[in-house]
Amino acid sequence: MANQDAFVAFERVQKSYDGETLVVKDLNLSMPKGEFLTMLGPSGSGKTTCLMMLAGFETATHGEIKLDGVSINDISPHKRGIGMVFQNYALFPHMTVAENLSFPLEVRKMGKSDREAKIKRALDMVQMGAFAGRRPTQLSGGQQQRIALARALVFEPELVLMDEPLGALDKQLRETLQFEITNLAHELGITVVYVTHDQTEALTMSDRVAVFDDGRIQQLAPPDELYEKPQNSFVAQFIGENNALDGTIQEIRGDRCTVRLESGDVIDAVPVNVSKVGEKTRVSIRPERVEFNPELGPDAHTLQAEVLEFVYMGDVFRTRLRVAGRDDFVVKTRNRADQIRLSPGEKVKIGWLPEDCRALDAP
Ligand SMILES: Nc1ncnc2c1ncn2[C@@H]1O[C@H](COP(=O)(O)OP(=O)(O)O)[C@@H](O)[C@H]1O
Ligand SMILES: [Mg+2]
Repeated sequence: MANQDAFVAFERVQKSYDGETLVVKDLNLSMPKGEFLTMLGPSGSGKTTCLMMLAGFETATHGEIKLDGVSINDISPHKRGIGMVFQNYALFPHMTVAENLSFPLEVRKMGKSDREAKIKRALDMVQMGAFAGRRPTQLSGGQQQRIALARALVFEPELVLMDEPLGALDKQLRETLQFEITNLAHELGITVVYVTHDQTEALTMSDRVAVFDDGRIQQLAPPDELYEKPQNSFVAQFIGENNALDGTIQEIRGDRCTVRLESGDVIDAVPVNVSKVGEKTRVSIRPERVEFNPELGPDAHTLQAEVLEFVYMGDVFRTRLRVAGRDDFVVKTRNRADQIRLSPGEKVKIGWLPEDCRALDAP
């Protein structure tokens, strides 16, 4: 996407807190209006720092942040018109729900009758219309988070930032609110930058996900692409379950390469992140792309394996195997009437298609 069409843009942004270590190393990111983008990554990877720079609570050490094509580096936080929601609600405890929502409107010098109309509308959006007179302590965690969301939306911002907003809630409530937040964002047409370390949350909510590690975006892609076409070993390992086998590139020819595994087995793979013969590589295969006693055709690979563990998980069977010298190889098979159940110690043949096997960087 060309930068002039971007609603939110980070251009060569770096951040250091101590003048030495860069916690954000070189951030380039463009978002169109209306996009729901999630920054996903392990703790300490720089997600909150990026959000704080966009909100204006931290300044970038280098580079530029733009909103609607205009640099906002020198604009103070409350003038950026950005709504924010955090994990620990941060509602004012001494104010009622209505007063909490009124606050951002008063800051913007809105008159009383306009304020009342906006507050009602925002509370109705999050189905909390009946709670205007309560104090935060009289609400459950999920209700407080709904109010925090209403407060971020009440002044009708075009951009809303959310930092682990559901982190403190139980699983079921989290899933309900995930659904409500994405629906609301799409209905209102707002642009959202969402931060989480929970990959399921990122994959289910987002138009695109930026995977962070070590102050850098490792990959920026829609959820399905991230899962099915990881560009490096970090992303393959971080998103979903993954089988990793180490080896050396023996040959590269177009969209296939040959890898000699450390066990001596030789397999074909898609060369993704490798460039020359002799290079070390880590190949990645998803557990559900592997079959037992495969009938995948002449291109498929088959390897001998030994069953170490067989776990019945309801919808799927999860089998851990010893394969190519490793004992952490996992295969997931759908629970169907004709699917065999395996026992530890059994010897089986497994196989997969070369296109499901990606040769990535050796970490
Ligand atoms: N205010 C701060 N002062 C100094 N270091 C900080 C500050 N905030 C974050 N850091 C450091 O910056 C790095 C990135 O942190 P953060 O952006 O909070 O990551 P994340 O949100 O991905 O967990 C970490 O090493 C963290 O310790
Ligand atoms: Mg954080």
